[in-house]
Parts: sequence; C-alpha cells; structure tokens
Amino acid sequence: MNKIPVSLFVVAFFGGIYACTHEGTYPNGGIPPPTVSINCHPDSVYFTNEVMPIIASNCATSGCHDAVTRADGVDLTNYTKIMKYVKAGNAPQSKLYKIIIDTDPGDRMPPPPLSPMTATQIAKIKKWIDQGAKNNFCIGSCDTSKFTYAAVIKPIMDNKCVGCHKPGNLGGNVNLSTYIGTKAVALNGTLLGSIAHQSGFSPMPKNSAKLSNCEITHVSRWIAAGSLNN
Ligand code: HEC
Repeated sequence: MNKIPVSLFVVAFFGGIYACTHEGTYPNGGIPPPTVSINCHPDSVYFTNEVMPIIASNCATSGCHDAVTRADGVDLTNYTKIMKYVKAGNAPQSKLYKIIIDTDPGDRMPPPPLSPMTATQIAKIKKWIDQGAKNNFCIGSCDTSKFTYAAVIKPIMDNKCVGCHKPGNLGGNVNLSTYIGTKAVALNGTLLGSIAHQSGFSPMPKNSAKLSNCEITHVSRWIAAGSLNN
C-alpha cells in the first residue's frame, strides 16, 4: 500500500512549491491543493476524504449543482466554490449548513423527491465547518484485513455513492443504498470495474476523485470473499 503515500507526497510537494512561486494560481483550475496529514485524527473531519464526497453525490450532481447545470447559479464542484456558502468556524451561519438542515420541503436541499442528507452526513458537514472548514486531507493507514460490509463497505457507499444511487435517483439503475443492490453489482462485475476505472465501465464515483487504493482494495477483497452481508 506504499503507492498512495508516495504519489500523494509528490502532489503535495510540487503543489507546495508551486503555491510558493506562483501565488494565487494553481495548476488544478485555480483550486489550492489540500493540506495533507499522514494520520487521520479520529476527531477531525477532512474535506477531501469525507466532505467533498458527500457534496459530490448529494449536491454537485448532473441537473443540480455541477459545473454544467449550476442550478440557481450555484456550483459546488470544488473547495473554493463550496466556500462561498460556508462561514468557517460557524455552521449555523453557513448557507450550506442551513439549507441541508431546513425541514421545509420547499427549501431544503437536496429537494424532494430526493431524501435529505442522513443525520451522519449532516453532522460531518457541521463538524467540518465548526472545525474551521479547512481544505484538508489525511492519508491514514490501510488495514486491508478488515473489509466487512457493515463496518467498511457500506460507509464507503453511503458517503461516496448513495446520493446518486438510491431510490429516486437511481444512476444507471444501480441501487447502492441496500446490501442487495450492492451485492448485485458486486456479482456482475460492474462495481469493481467502475471504481477501479477499468475500460468498458463508467468510471465511478462520477465527477469526483477516484476512490483511494485502500478503499478499492477493501471493496475487491469483500467481493473476492463472497460479497457477504457481514
Ligand atoms: C454524481 C453521481 C454519481 C456518483 C457520486 C456515483 N455514481 Fe455510479 N453512476 C452514476 C450514473 C449517472 C450512472 C449511469 C452511467 C453513467 O452515466 O455513467 C452510474 C453507473 C454506475 C454503475 C454501473 C457502471 C457500468 O459500467 O455499468 C456502477 C456499478 C456504479 N455507478 C457504482 C458507483 C459507485 C460504487 C459509486 C461510489 C464510489 C458511484 N457509482 C458514485 C452516477 C453516480
């Protein structure tokens, strides 16, 4: 699993150099690279690991707040754009937070018939904002010996996929909100094909960063062990 850290360090290192020499401009379309920590602190919420995937699958989707549709002029496809609706350190004063906790069906986001974000997702976004809404990323360690559905696979699906793959928004007619639906794509080969970006499959998650090697390893091990409901 050494591949992830090395490539990330390269990105972080050159991103850092670039940031110093070309103030205000960055290679990645003007988006500053996230600060990288080696360890994932259990009490911290990281933008790249957790917040961007939740927003990518619940808000920055086709027909909504992606760079093409920009519903109501709102584009939520990267950190800089998301920060227009966030008051760092103050979730209750942040538009992004206010609109996801709004219980009025006429105002809340995502709007009906889509389900609201889950309480866990809302809590993550609140904590990230209250912790300063940083553009941060953590590498963490990869324990490839643990890959049960409940503890490892379902959380990946919930945070990075379910927004576009649930009843009411069944991208490609794939339902990843249940074990049965996830098992179906595990068995027909499209789950691994799409997350590993193999040719012949639609690369997933659509419109956002590829899953980490650690996450792809977890999914492939879970499939190889029989895609159990464990
Ligand atoms: C922003 C919305 C979005 C997100 C996020 C997303 N998907 Fe998809 N997915 C789609 C759409 C739409 C399709 C239909 C095919 C297409 O348009 O590319 C699809 C198709 C698929 C397919 C069928 C692929 C094929 O080649 O037959 C699988 C499997 C899949 N997604 C799994 C995932 C997984 C796993 C994740 C999370 C890691 C994920 N998706 C995240 C929108 C999304």
